[in-house]
Amino acid sequence: MRRSFVVAILILIAGMKGAEAQPLQKSLDAKIDSILSLLTLEEKVAMCHAQSKFSTPGVPRLGIPEIWMSDGPHGVRGEINWDNWGYAGWTNDSITAFPALTCLAATFNPELSFQYGVSVGEEARYRNKDVLLGPGVNIYRTPLNGRNFEYMGEDPHLASVLVVPYIKGVQLNGVAACVKHYVLNNQELWRDHINVEVSDRALYEIYLPAFKAAVEEGGVWSVMGAYNQFRGQHCCHNELLLNKILKTDWDFDGVVITDWGGAHDTREAALYGLDMEMGTGTDGLTTSTENAYDYYYLARPFLKMIKSGEIEEAVVDDKVRRILRLMFRTNMNPNRPMGRMNNKEHLKVARTVAGEGIVLLKNEGRFFPIGPNREITIAVIGENATRAMTVGGGSSELKARNEISPLEGLQARFQHARIIYSMGYASGPPQYGRVVPSALDADSLRSAAVAAAARADVVLFFGGLNKNHHQDCEGGDRQDFGLPFGQDELLEQLIQANDNLGVILISGNAVEMPWVDRVKGLMQAWYLGSEAGNALADVISGDVNPSGKLPFSFPVRLEDNAAHHYGKLSYPGDSVNQYYQEGIFVGYRWHDIREIRPLFAFGHGLSYTTFELSGAKTNKQSYTAGEAILVSCQVANTGDADGAEVVQVYAGKPDSKVERPVKELKGFRKVQVEKGGRRSVEISIDVEGLAFYDESIAGWNLEKGTYIIYIGNASDNIFQQLEIVIQ
Ligand code: GLC
Repeated sequence: MRRSFVVAILILIAGMKGAEAQPLQKSLDAKIDSILSLLTLEEKVAMCHAQSKFSTPGVPRLGIPEIWMSDGPHGVRGEINWDNWGYAGWTNDSITAFPALTCLAATFNPELSFQYGVSVGEEARYRNKDVLLGPGVNIYRTPLNGRNFEYMGEDPHLASVLVVPYIKGVQLNGVAACVKHYVLNNQELWRDHINVEVSDRALYEIYLPAFKAAVEEGGVWSVMGAYNQFRGQHCCHNELLLNKILKTDWDFDGVVITDWGGAHDTREAALYGLDMEMGTGTDGLTTSTENAYDYYYLARPFLKMIKSGEIEEAVVDDKVRRILRLMFRTNMNPNRPMGRMNNKEHLKVARTVAGEGIVLLKNEGRFFPIGPNREITIAVIGENATRAMTVGGGSSELKARNEISPLEGLQARFQHARIIYSMGYASGPPQYGRVVPSALDADSLRSAAVAAAARADVVLFFGGLNKNHHQDCEGGDRQDFGLPFGQDELLEQLIQANDNLGVILISGNAVEMPWVDRVKGLMQAWYLGSEAGNALADVISGDVNPSGKLPFSFPVRLEDNAAHHYGKLSYPGDSVNQYYQEGIFVGYRWHDIREIRPLFAFGHGLSYTTFELSGAKTNKQSYTAGEAILVSCQVANTGDADGAEVVQVYAGKPDSKVERPVKELKGFRKVQVEKGGRRSVEISIDVEGLAFYDESIAGWNLEKGTYIIYIGNASDNIFQQLEIVIQ
């Protein structure tokens, strides 16, 4: 794969050569200004809002093209109708479905994130999309959030490191990434209006960093405003978030696009940082069939306010400059590559990300791997062994050209085994926005599954959630922390029938696991895309040694989670306001400071081999601002299989003058080590990364004094602590 992938990259870069040699910024701006001077006011205003569900108008008389956008973060969505949310029924829009971004995050592998971005960007380019509406990097605050599966977990450093290469990979194709949803869209319930109240410290330390990295390091060309409000202003037109932080502090030169229907006021949209309005309905609904686009907030009302002098024409000029800059980077860039899709390289990237993202949570008595040549009977039980998971979930759903189910993957790989399948439970047909129960009889499903388990040598239970309404889907949150559709009861009966049982959870969220002590093997498998079954068979058979690490904590019970500890006003709010009372103590930060043991910790993930970390040290003992702390250690593979380990470096300051988490992730490195081998790892941490956001100075404060550097392979598995001093 690597050779053809490298070839693909070279083609991309060659194609971009001209783009890189593009005139310097100032002559590009001169070009933009010269075009601007040719546009009428009506044409300029028209470019600032939709002409259809997923496009904005160009200027036909000047040959300026339309801008076409598409969801989503995991692949290019099927073509949508011009004027409503229905699918257009095209026959040329089946694509590669890549794993959900939680899976990508679980790989802890920036290089793989780049390959993911290049691949999904190539498919977007080939589908003639100028903007790909992803990646999403909203922080995982509650396990009930319906869209956590689309995001990169609970830790701002992990999300910041992985979002950058994804964006660079996408944009190498001359397609704009659109990092979303900026910001504080951490739940689906009341998402379109809930007003989030959170401290500046938590905003800057937890919720903004991944967006800041996307802009300042990833060079993202567009940002999508979130639906919710922050401190009483909608995020899609928010003075502080857009004009101050994004466009001034971070010097963002791209386009701010609403979430679909996220605009609510012409004057605010004009003056508080919005550049492009999508998905609005005239009367505030997001239906569009009857609503003419001229009634958009940034359409006639905006034109009227400029003509009356209430708003200066310079306001629309700035928006159009940004839009033209995005066009010169995309559909007006004569050198951009041609893209490609549904090729074996993309399938290989999808399979590699899936295989590296699967997390082995428990492996009692080396239940996994299961030898693929053993002549045994394997009972594969659970609806999730056969259910299509590239559909559903909301706007990130995909029309995959193919999707290998877990059952199909196992059948293909375990040629010598007798595989018996039993559904065990049924959740009902995929249905957005409402739950349609299954017509199948639960008792007969369950008894058939128990009988199958009793006949087998090994039982593999595929359960979890399924991207249906309330089950990891946009537009609604989960309604409880446990597994749905009677899975817990079924599991108890299966264990009774045959305790040689492993569970593979397919979900984008943590779930309650009352049976966890009674199962031998346990894997967290994500929504894995087109190659799901092959990747699962790779890991279950041992062809691939699992190396995934959890990108978010699994609490034992819901109330162990910070957002839920503080009750209704914290989550989900009172339908008007919501208060992030836990502040910076999200995820493992909460578990550590409150000494609440998680079921499985952030950064946890087992391997089929064993690793020994040793000899941790820093390059010196004391540092000053501007320096880098080099943390090194040895990783020995002490087991009997090649594998990969993720060395994680956390930092804390026990004697800080402010309350701080015990430790915070500041660096990580995934390293391949052959069995019996040893590798040395070095991880660099910027001293500035140890600063806290000081509300008293509205800025970052690098405290001097002693810090603890924690080195380990999980947030709850630290093998050595070192002391350093910041002078
Ligand atoms: C949706 C989602 C957003 C998506 C957009 C277009 O409401 O919130 O992520 O990109 O609308 O489908």
